[in-house]
Amino acid sequence: MSLKFVSYMSSQSRVMSSKSIEDFLFQVREKNKQLTITGVLLLIQGKFVQYIEGPAQEIDKVYESISKDIRHKDMILLDSGDLSERQFKDWSMAYKKVHDHHIKKIVGKENLNLEDIFLGNTSSKNHPVLKVLYDFVKTLSS
Ligand SMILES: Cc1cc2nc3c(=O)[nH]c(=O)nc-3n(C[C@H](O)[C@H](O)[C@H](O)COP(=O)(O)O)c2cc1C
Repeated sequence: MSLKFVSYMSSQSRVMSSKSIEDFLFQVREKNKQLTITGVLLLIQGKFVQYIEGPAQEIDKVYESISKDIRHKDMILLDSGDLSERQFKDWSMAYKKVHDHHIKKIVGKENLNLEDIFLGNTSSKNHPVLKVLYDFVKTLSS
């Protein structure tokens, strides 16, 4: 069974309350447990940044449903590829709201200029938001 990961960024369609985020995470985690998908969802400056990993077929299917979900828009693929080992084996979907002071600690500046990715001004593959994502991956998997 081949493993794959995908990470993307999107804009929330509307600001979700903490209660609706909790309900949403409950459903996502239940579904991911069934599909053996693991990963992390970050909320950064009003944008979702998600990393999912699991069996390639399941990841393709879930990514397709996520891309049709009206709770967010303007999805942009940040990175994807094959995996030999999971980064998040214990997390059906870790969640963190990332505050500006954390971002500053990780990338040295508070404003990630996320809009630049949506406008196509910067390459999404090398964007500092990936550094924030992978830094968080490290804290969970260590
Ligand atoms: C930001 C975001 C992240 C999501 N992440 C996942 C996920 O990791 N796994 C999942 O099954 N659904 C996820 N969803 C929900 C899917 O878009 C979709 O609602 C769900 O898979 C549909 O499940 P159902 O066909 O069983 O009703 C996410 C939705 C959003 C807006």
